Amino acid sequence: MKKLKIIFTACLIITGVVMMSAFIQKPDMWEAPKSADARKNPFKGNIAATLKGKALFEKQCVMCHGSKGKGNGSAAADLKPTPTDLSANMTQAHTDGALYWKIMNGNSPMPSWKEVHKANHNQCWQLINYIRTLGKQSPKMKGGKKGMQKMGGMKKM
Ligand code: HEC
Repeated sequence: MKKLKIIFTACLIITGVVMMSAFIQKPDMWEAPKSADARKNPFKGNIAATLKGKALFEKQCVMCHGSKGKGNGSAAADLKPTPTDLSANMTQAHTDGALYWKIMNGNSPMPSWKEVHKANHNQCWQLINYIRTLGKQSPKMKGGKKGMQKMGGMKKM
């Protein structure tokens, strides 16, 4: 009987520790839930929205992500984890919906757009439009309307 009690208590403690660590420890990879992919960007290919996104990015994001999105902004060096290189394939491969989820929710030290900017959806999509121009493979802004339409058109992976 005594032995059973000890085993039971040990199980309880182990379960507790496992549950706690799940809450405390962040997974190494920060991933948006699959369901986020379904959200569609209403500004896809909209140049005016992309330009607004650029202005927002320069105000709110460059200090960490850098002017080209490379993750080398002035505040970047002291951060852990370091800001993501938004021009890299890893980010560009995400769907607009996944990026929307990430920007809205944030992940410390990455601020949550939802909290800081009162869930301004339009601005969030504008930022995503701009992030698409940072990718190596995406057409540059000077690519004109055609280029911009292609932009953000990266297929789901
Ligand atoms: C205080 C610094 C900081 C600021 C300001 C900031 N970010 Fe971040 N951002 C980060 C860090 C750090 C990460 C990596 C978080 C992680 O992986 O856990 C990140 C990750 C991201 C990601 C995810 C990339 C991926 O592939 O997973 C996106 C998208 C992003 N930031 C966009 C933005 C946008 C847009 C803004 C401006 C509105 C912004 N960030 C402002 C620090 C910052």
